[in-house]
Amino acid sequence: MSTTFDYDIDQINTLIKNRRSIYPKDYETGKVIPDEIIWQILENANWAPNHKQTEPWRFTVFSGEGLKYFAELQAGIYKQYSGSKFNEGKYQKLLEQPLLCSHIISIGMKRNEENILPEVEEIAAVSCAVENMYLTATAYGLGCYLTTGGITYFKEAKKYFGLNENDRLLGFFYIGYVSKSFTTQSKRTPVATKVKWVNKF
Ligand SMILES: Cc1cc2nc3c(=O)[nH]c(=O)nc-3n(C[C@H](O)[C@H](O)[C@H](O)COP(=O)(O)O)c2cc1C
Repeated sequence: MSTTFDYDIDQINTLIKNRRSIYPKDYETGKVIPDEIIWQILENANWAPNHKQTEPWRFTVFSGEGLKYFAELQAGIYKQYSGSKFNEGKYQKLLEQPLLCSHIISIGMKRNEENILPEVEEIAAVSCAVENMYLTATAYGLGCYLTTGGITYFKEAKKYFGLNENDRLLGFFYIGYVSKSFTTQSKRTPVATKVKWVNKF
């Protein structure tokens, strides 16, 4: 691979800054993203940095009738295992929200068998993969967001997403066409408030 890069850095800076989380209520329900675009989003996820080449990200893609399967699966797991925390409104949301999307991708972290890395590094690598997904979806003009709500942290959910006990379910990536053009709001405090710069001995 060549190390000579010739990118439009202004475009890349703008893409990174303008990337937003866009929620299912703002998706054009029933408009389906071509699978090739979803594969490109996954391909870019697969190029995330990862220590010792463990490539710990694992995905399950739900589309078409699979969205209904996912909706009923997550609502069912929530109902069965939420115990005293069960909330009817949340249950309904878990049933209904997936049907507003074009695709939903579960985000998993597969622990390397030999545990060659601290777990935090594997989670960090999957997080990098998710940012690649966010940026790719944004570049295609799609709406997307990562949710860690619902059944994300239910240990009983892991097996339904190809994960074992030592692996982690890290969330769900919702994607759809946006129903209208709108300006999304997000803010950051200046980066300088989070940086210490040492340039003297
Ligand atoms: C690890 C992680 C978990 C998140 N979980 C949720 C969630 O459960 N529900 C939600 O509405 N947004 C969730 N988000 C999206 C954030 O709310 C969003 O990134 C934040 O508001 C900043 O907005 P922006 O992405 O448009 O810059 C999550 C984001 C990250 C990185």
